[in-house]
Amino acid sequence: MTLKMDVLLPVVCLLAGLKFSIAAECHGKPDPNAQQNLNPIWGGQVKFLREVKNGKLYQAGIAQDAFYVVHVWGTPYEMGYAQGQLLKTEANLFMNSVWRYLEEQVIQAINATLHFQPWFLKDVADFGLDAALDLELTITRPYTGRYFAEEAQGLADATGVDFKMIERIHMIGELTKGDCSMMGAWGTAVKDPNSLLQLRALDWNTDGPFKDFPQVTVYHPNPGHGHAFANIGWTAWLGSITGFNKEQLAISEIGVAFPDKTFGHESRFGIPFTYILRDVLQFDKSLGEATERMRNARRTCDLILGVGDAKIREFRGIQYSAAVANFYSDIDMEPTADWHPRIPNVVYYGMDWLCPGFNQVLARQIQANHGALTPDVIIRDVVSIEQSGSLHIAVYDLANGFVYIANARSSQETFIRLNTTELFAVSPPTGVY
Ligand SMILES: *[C@@H]1O[C@H](CO)[C@@H](O)[C@H](O)[C@H]1NC(C)=O
Ligand SMILES: *[C@@H]1O[C@H](CO)[C@@H](O)[C@H](O)[C@H]1NC(C)=O
Repeated sequence: MTLKMDVLLPVVCLLAGLKFSIAAECHGKPDPNAQQNLNPIWGGQVKFLREVKNGKLYQAGIAQDAFYVVHVWGTPYEMGYAQGQLLKTEANLFMNSVWRYLEEQVIQAINATLHFQPWFLKDVADFGLDAALDLELTITRPYTGRYFAEEAQGLADATGVDFKMIERIHMIGELTKGDCSMMGAWGTAVKDPNSLLQLRALDWNTDGPFKDFPQVTVYHPNPGHGHAFANIGWTAWLGSITGFNKEQLAISEIGVAFPDKTFGHESRFGIPFTYILRDVLQFDKSLGEATERMRNARRTCDLILGVGDAKIREFRGIQYSAAVANFYSDIDMEPTADWHPRIPNVVYYGMDWLCPGFNQVLARQIQANHGALTPDVIIRDVVSIEQSGSLHIAVYDLANGFVYIANARSSQETFIRLNTTELFAVSPPTGVY
């Protein structure tokens, strides 16, 4: 089907203008019998597997808990190419599986695991899946960093995966809503007052292929392409939903399906959130810079974002939509409700904006451990009992140089601890290729 933009654009504008103001809240809550996570944390050495001209491949953890740690160096194209060379088979498998999953999910529509935006399902019904995604690409491209297409091209050239398919798949974050949780804790809330502890729990699809391709990609860009950062996600996934950088910034994210009217409107015309989060990791050196970026961005959908800066031990929860970007600390955190009490030196969100069941339990677990919070306590007594993080979880303790990562492959996850100082100090391959 040929895409006729002049015909389609008015339709899109009309849809984007429609906002259903449903005064609803989420009705989910954690299982009251949720168990502590008592699995020991894996703190072993990552294992070197192989290298290519601009990349090195390692494995962290063992057996079902293991994930790849991929280091890439160079220009965006070179970094994409290096990842593709190191993981050609996996990248092909993953991208093709995601594509099939997306097709299946779209057919199931409202019964699907992925909670698609209603306007997207309408586009698919009207134009087909490819064209609906291409439409999304067209309207977000002006706000997408050039590096993205260059890296995707490198990845495509090294793996043989279709460039268009890579681009289309990366729209998935913008088209679906995940329920997730986050927290930033510092000062009187934490055991080590020199630390900023930050949680990112991702609850998304566990029936899709994502859980089988966990990966941390550590970028070491050439000068002029940003600074070193680590993207926690999946093989061949170039957007950011979880990650941290050498400047000790880290990100958290929650999709909002139950906003209140303070969110204002959403829009499709702007920067996809997985790209603005990547820009934060790749280009921002401070919480101030990340704040400016989000304030000035052409924003799209309703989200709660979290950015922590372990250098100054500050964290902000961000109420984010096309209309607003509000940056909350512990003293002015919203929404205010008996199920979302303000807690000194903590900002937290459980699963959604209006979501009493999860926020109550998250608040209770934080309050019970207030002053004693450590990464171990968050893993054992907070996120496990709140029952968030079905797909993956990261606990960042960047002031102490650690990040703890767990993936959804087992029923109760084993966390893998990575030394972030070591991670950013890995040297490029020296062999002749
Ligand atoms: C969704 O599930 C309902 C109830 O099982 C069924 O009636 C409906 O046809 C399903 N819709 C789709 C699009 O599969
Ligand atoms: C992390 O790695 C660095 C570099 O190898 C090392 O100096 C440091 O002691 C490690 N940190 C911890 C807490 O083990």
